[in-house]
Amino acid sequence: MQYSINTVTRKISVGEKEFDLFSDEAFRALSDLWLTVGWNQKYTYTFSWFDVPMIQLPEDVLRYQEVVFRLKPDVIIETGIAHGGSAVFSASLCKLIGKGRVVAVDIDIRRHNLERLEAHPLKPLMTLIEGSSTAPEIVNQVRAEIGDAETVLVVLDSDHSYAHVTRELEAYAPMVTLGSYIISTDGYMRYLTEAPRGLPGWKQDNPANAAVDFVFKHDGFVIEEPAWNFNESSLHGNITHWPDAWIKRVG
Ligand SMILES: C[S@@+](CC[C@H](N)C(=O)[O-])C[C@H]1O[C@@H](n2cnc3c(N)ncnc32)[C@H](O)[C@@H]1O
Repeated sequence: MQYSINTVTRKISVGEKEFDLFSDEAFRALSDLWLTVGWNQKYTYTFSWFDVPMIQLPEDVLRYQEVVFRLKPDVIIETGIAHGGSAVFSASLCKLIGKGRVVAVDIDIRRHNLERLEAHPLKPLMTLIEGSSTAPEIVNQVRAEIGDAETVLVVLDSDHSYAHVTRELEAYAPMVTLGSYIISTDGYMRYLTEAPRGLPGWKQDNPANAAVDFVFKHDGFVIEEPAWNFNESSLHGNITHWPDAWIKRVG
């Protein structure tokens, strides 16, 4: 794709299309390019939350926070702990809301990460489970943790292959309560096939495709990016690593 930007004429052309530089279309085009370059530069590997590295795009985390505050879930299930930043982020929201706790799963919780999480002030709000998120015994363990929770939110951020996310969706979507979501993160992979370190197969093999196919096969679930709580702009739609990620339980 050829981009050309002229700050004097205030025009941007993207392939065959031309927009005013100061337009919503230009902002979207620049954001998409920024996301792609930022992915290669590992922009998301530069943040931490309450002292723990968190591998997320800041806008995704802020949008997620809006939903958590609105839903006030009793339990947040997360697959993919890594250093633990996203689990700590969710736990900190629960702490501030005064309700809810986190059940997080990772196939390999590294010792130094576990030690830091065990010592973290928010640890009482986090249950950490080691094992594959799709192993039946792990899924059962998570289900047992939910108990009679009224509101359950799920975030899938582990192995991002289509096959694994599809298995996760089958296992965890039944735990999601009405009006809540199962978030199939990092589908932006599908736009990275031409980027350095991207793979051609990601066009199909990604969490967004798994989400789209899941809702096609399952009544009662729709893909619906949550509405913004506040918007005094003409913009709409998240600048996100999580396209087609927000699967809402509607029935
Ligand atoms: C993208 S990182 C998670 C990032 C984390 N949620 C954050 O925001 O900082 C992916 C994690 O998924 C874990 N993982 C990979 N395959 C898995 C599986 N089958 N089950 C559970 N976790 C898995 C990896 O060990 C890795 O820690």
